[in-house]
Amino acid sequence: MSTPRPEHREVNRAAWEAASTKHVREHDEMVEQLRAGGSLLPLERALLADVLATAPRVVHLQSGHGIDDAGLLAAGAGSVLGIDFSTVAVGAARRRAREVGLAADYVVAALPDVPLADGCAGLVYTGKGALIWLADLDAWAAAVARVLEPGGVLFVHEEHPMAPLWSWDPDVPRVRDDRSYFGTEFVVDAFPDGGAVVSQHTLGEVVTAVAGAGLRVRHLAEHPDPFWWPGGVDAAAWRGRLPNAYSLLAERPRD
Ligand SMILES: C[S@@+](CC[C@H](N)C(=O)[O-])C[C@H]1O[C@@H](n2cnc3c(N)ncnc32)[C@H](O)[C@@H]1O
Repeated sequence: MSTPRPEHREVNRAAWEAASTKHVREHDEMVEQLRAGGSLLPLERALLADVLATAPRVVHLQSGHGIDDAGLLAAGAGSVLGIDFSTVAVGAARRRAREVGLAADYVVAALPDVPLADGCAGLVYTGKGALIWLADLDAWAAAVARVLEPGGVLFVHEEHPMAPLWSWDPDVPRVRDDRSYFGTEFVVDAFPDGGAVVSQHTLGEVVTAVAGAGLRVRHLAEHPDPFWWPGGVDAAAWRGRLPNAYSLLAERPRD
C-alpha cells in the first residue's frame, strides 16, 4: 500500500478548485452534454443495467463534472448524489442538474470522509481519474463498504495503473523512465494545470483494499482503450496491445 501523504490533499484541492472553473466557463456546452444523455461508456451501461434495476440509489464519489450522472439516470438510476471536494465543481454540477431537471444533487466532502448515512447507496460509482487522488485506499474502501446497503455494489471504471507508465509516442509505445509501477507517487503532467503529485496504486492494491473492506469482487476486466482521449494525441500505447483501463464490480454481501 502506498504511504499515505495527506499533506498533498490541500494542494490538490486548490488545483482542482482552479481546474474546475472550466466547468463554470463551459456551462452551456456541458448542459448540452447532459441533455444528450451524458457520457456513460457502453461497457459501463452493460455492467450496470442489472445493478441499477434493483439498486437505484447511486452515490458518485469524486463526481467532478458530473456528466456521467445523466448517463446513470438514463441507465435506470433513480437518484444520484455526487461527492467532490471541489466547491467549484459541486456548485457547477448542482446548477447544471437543476437547469436540466436531473434527479442529481452534489455535496462537498473530502474523501475518505463520506458524510452519508450507513447503507444509503445501492450503487457507489467512481473512477475515470479518481483513485490516483487518494493516498489511503483502505480508508476509501472502508467508507464505500459503510455506505453500501447489503447487496449494494461498488463500480469502478478507472485508468489502469500501468497506463501512467506508457509514453504518448505515436510510433511505438515506450515505458517512461520517470515512473514506476511499484512507486508510491508520481507527478501527473496533463491535468490539472501545472501538474500534481498523486498516488500510484497497483491493481493488486486496489483489489486487496476492496476485498479487505469485506466486499466480494464479482468482475474485474482490463481494457486496451483509455477512459479519456486527450485531444491531439495519437499514442501507440492506445492501439489495443496494452492495458489502459480496468473495470471492477464488487458487492457488499447480504448479512
Ligand atoms: C479526474 S476528476 C474525475 C471525476 C469524475 N469521474 C469526472 O469524470 O469528472 C477527479 C475528481 O476528484 C476530485 N477529488 C480529488 N481528490 C478528492 C478527495 N480527496 N475527495 C473528494 N474529491 C476529490 C477532484 O475535485 C475532481 O473533481
